[in-house]
Amino acid sequence: AYMLNTQSFGQRIVVLDSTVSTQQDAMRLAEEGAQQGTVVLAEEQTAGRGRLGRKWFSPRGKGIWMSIVLRPSQPLAFTPQLTLLTGVAVCRAIRRLTGVEAGIKWPNDLLVHGRKVCGILLESATEDQRVRYCIAGIGIDVNLNTEDYPEELSRLGTSLKIEAGREIDRTALIAAVLEEMEQVCALYADQGFKPVAMLWEALSVTMNRFVRAHTGQGSVVEGTAVGLDPSGALVVETKQGERIQVVSGDIQLQV
Ligand code: BTN
Repeated sequence: AYMLNTQSFGQRIVVLDSTVSTQQDAMRLAEEGAQQGTVVLAEEQTAGRGRLGRKWFSPRGKGIWMSIVLRPSQPLAFTPQLTLLTGVAVCRAIRRLTGVEAGIKWPNDLLVHGRKVCGILLESATEDQRVRYCIAGIGIDVNLNTEDYPEELSRLGTSLKIEAGREIDRTALIAAVLEEMEQVCALYADQGFKPVAMLWEALSVTMNRFVRAHTGQGSVVEGTAVGLDPSGALVVETKQGERIQVVSGDIQLQV
């Protein structure tokens, strides 16, 4: 038995054996009025979704494939902050539970030794510029072995088991993620984005590194990542000393 130390996150959890994508299932629940913190988990996804239209490899029983309903009160412009908040919460949970020193790569891939161990997909459903709800999708490669990775992912991905050298208890990690989500959301609600940005900067592997990023306006910037601005955009300082904001390309869902 597990104690889940939360008020709302994970107080309702729908566990599925196999599904297309937990994002779709969570959206359906949100449309039916599910509260913030409602969770959908699946043992496997047959068409897991990644950012930018990519597929997400979601083999049976090896990972945490999870979607959480969020009901933010802020306008749409603030959803990049939720993406970063989710990355902070999952990174803290992984470090606390497994000791694996995952770091956050902009906007919110979690890396260990340069390989991706977790991806986060934040999708929003809007109406007249207002956010009706968001779905935070979290995919963690927990107990995959090296040979479980298909050829094209074998150099890019890693799992907590590979990095920790032992099997990781998925249920305990799910509980840790939900506890951290609730705590970081409470911090955000009480004190705004600033303290969350500070946590992100401290956990980030992108800070003070040379980066190449797409601005969203179709152009590419190169420079040093110097921090997050109050909206959650990454601030990149070019060689010429110009500071440019890079906004993460999160997806808007049409409902
Ligand atoms: C990425 O790095 O591109 C984001 C990957 C997000 C994967 C998770 S797994 C649970 C949820 N359901 C999905 O179909 N995608 C997200």
